[in-house]
Amino acid sequence: MSIRPADPAHCPAVRGESPLAAHARARQVYPVPGAFDRSSDHMKRAHDLIPGGAHTYAKGDDQFPEHMSPVIVRGQGCHVFDLDGNRYIELGSGLRSVTLGHAHPRICEAASRAMQQGTNFVRPAALELQAAEAMLANVPGADMIKFAKNGSDATTAAVKLARAYTGRDLIALCYDQPFFSTDDWFICTTPMDAGITDATRRETLTFRFNNLQSLQKLFDDYPNRIAAVLMEAERDEVPAPGYLASVRDLAHRNGALLIFDEVIAGMRLGSGGGQVLHNITPDLSTFGKAIANGFALAALAGKREFMELGGLRQAERDRVFLLSTTNGAESHALAACIETTAIYRERDVISNLRNIGETLRDGFNAISREHGIADYLQTAGHPSNLVFVTKDPDHQKSQPYRTLFMQELIRRGVLAPSLVVSDAITERDLDHLFWAIDGAAGVYARALSDGIEPLLEGRPVKPVFRKRI
Ligand SMILES: Cc1ncc(COP(=O)(O)O)c(C=O)c1O
Repeated sequence: MSIRPADPAHCPAVRGESPLAAHARARQVYPVPGAFDRSSDHMKRAHDLIPGGAHTYAKGDDQFPEHMSPVIVRGQGCHVFDLDGNRYIELGSGLRSVTLGHAHPRICEAASRAMQQGTNFVRPAALELQAAEAMLANVPGADMIKFAKNGSDATTAAVKLARAYTGRDLIALCYDQPFFSTDDWFICTTPMDAGITDATRRETLTFRFNNLQSLQKLFDDYPNRIAAVLMEAERDEVPAPGYLASVRDLAHRNGALLIFDEVIAGMRLGSGGGQVLHNITPDLSTFGKAIANGFALAALAGKREFMELGGLRQAERDRVFLLSTTNGAESHALAACIETTAIYRERDVISNLRNIGETLRDGFNAISREHGIADYLQTAGHPSNLVFVTKDPDHQKSQPYRTLFMQELIRRGVLAPSLVVSDAITERDLDHLFWAIDGAAGVYARALSDGIEPLLEGRPVKPVFRKRI
């Protein structure tokens, strides 16, 4: 089936306009937040019952400005609503898991229909094959796929499969990319490594992105010991021409597998992730986040030669216990995945995410330039996976300035730990976003010239991975 262009109702007309024109359209469209009292009270109780007050560190109070940490009661499209009745445009799009927008009617309908037929059985549901076909159609280099609930589990399974296939113990992962799994083999590379054994620590090696020599050095230093090279094809930095192909060739020459973590990139940079965008086929790849538009679903995909080690059809080699969880094939998540892939086939969501992201990026940077702070407040990353960078007067990356910018955006009804867009963002939303960014950038400029202290209303945010609170 040929892919139709994005739905014009969702396609921002500002595309093609100059960034300054986008800036000129900035206007307040939605009411701005008032009180945060109910959210604050709620979080006090949440910290009594839940370590960190949340089930994902990225959602923690320490990641948001103090006294301005809304607790969400519902989402619709790119908007979320909090306990105090405040409304926000949510950039970050549900930890990047909701490319089509919150509560998308077709996804909800598909999931709800499946749920009402039962969610889990003693034998495979028919939906499992349908979902496998739908996902594999997006990932041309993969022959087989196995579903799970978390991207972390899928990536850990890829690591284990590579170890089993190669009979080697070490993993080389990309140091410049922030996250691969909640499991010890990755968390041991962060400062928050309490409870992890030295033996585990010794089994994970790191190399630098776009630096083939740093990977070559690992193969030189640990000959015949590296089972896999693990990386995202693209994160905040674009791969240099030929880099990914060289990584693949280097890994293969040294008997290691290439694993792409597509947990963010899948359904965002390309429907099949970075491997499709950059036309490099890895041996194994892992998916999660957006593949079921916010429903819990993840997957390990790969070449038959490797994946069959987890199956019932090969007798030559030891079997690998490959992803087997009670809820791995929960029917409504599979139905949500099938419907998500159907929507992507009907219209070009990937291009629309990119168009919206480019519009936001260009408008953001034009506003920053107009305030004379382009060296301090910038965007980075692929337009569909955009982040902002905040620097202090000494041009150093700054958490206090990040906090100030987030504080001023929240005040204007934008909840933005990143600038990651969804397909649900409309022209009206972009108008409001430019208005909010303009106001926040004005305060940022004042802080740079007069000092941040009088403007920052609470303690700064902190990195997730740190030794002590
Ligand atoms: C690149 C990447 N890989 C893997 C994961 C882990 O996914 P999950 O949180 O579903 O376990 C994440 C989560 O943020 C991620 O960003």
